[in-house]
Amino acid sequence: MLEVEEIHTFYGLSHILFGVSLSIESGKVVCMLGRNGAGKSTTLKSIIGITPPKKGSIRFKGEEITGKQPFMLVRMGIGYAPDERRIFADLTVEDNLEIAERKVEGGERWDKERAYEVFPVLENIGSRRGGCLSGGEQKMLAIARALMCNPELLLLDEPFEGLAPVMVKVLEDQIGTLKETGLTVLLAEQNVKTTLRLSDHGYIIDDGKIRYQGSVEELKENEEVRRKYLFI
Ligand SMILES: Nc1ncnc2c1ncn2[C@@H]1O[C@H](COP(=O)(O)OP(=O)(O)OP(=O)(O)O)[C@@H](O)[C@H]1O
Ligand SMILES: [Mg+2]
Repeated sequence: MLEVEEIHTFYGLSHILFGVSLSIESGKVVCMLGRNGAGKSTTLKSIIGITPPKKGSIRFKGEEITGKQPFMLVRMGIGYAPDERRIFADLTVEDNLEIAERKVEGGERWDKERAYEVFPVLENIGSRRGGCLSGGEQKMLAIARALMCNPELLLLDEPFEGLAPVMVKVLEDQIGTLKETGLTVLLAEQNVKTTLRLSDHGYIIDDGKIRYQGSVEELKENEEVRRKYLFI
């Protein structure tokens, strides 16, 4: 579904990603693990076109998408839930969802009701303003909102960051439910244990380079990787 090949991304003159490559098969959850500043968010932003790479190529369902604008990529079927959430603080939860809804003919599509089935908490607080939500509620709303555009591939940037353990568990189950629907997910995270439970395949990024990749079983069994990068 997604092929990222040798991308180099810059912020101004700062060279951040050095030939990052990764590939994601349809229906899989793939994670990207790495410490603060490793380049996880920059990789996701490169894919969704916020910081297009200067070199390298990105293909989505076989089509070259490098350099395309974010709104085009959303239309093509890539959803993005950024780490800073960016929900509309003055709009209610309900309006935040409705404003993102993309009506399409036929097929399985997302609407408010379906979002509430996966995230029941959001229904209870449907009339609350986005700016008044807790951290966990905001994370859920950001993911639900990304789903309203009917993505085939969902990019999730640190969904578990800053959440209480009980909230992490709730969100883990909800992302698990999304996986069961066949959604393809790229999950950038630092919460190793939760992320590995959800994932099929993993990449480890450090200083803008992929240091290791493998199936989740391979990652867990690799003593050096565990000690050096995962601390488990
Ligand atoms: N807008 C920006 N301008 C300049 N440098 C940036 C910008 N955003 C990020 N960087 C730098 O790029 C590098 C990679 O940052 P990135 O946000 O991709 O890391 P990350 O793996 O997502 O980290 P975190 O876990 O803290 O979110 C860091 O050194 C960071 O300081
Ligand atoms: Mg980040």
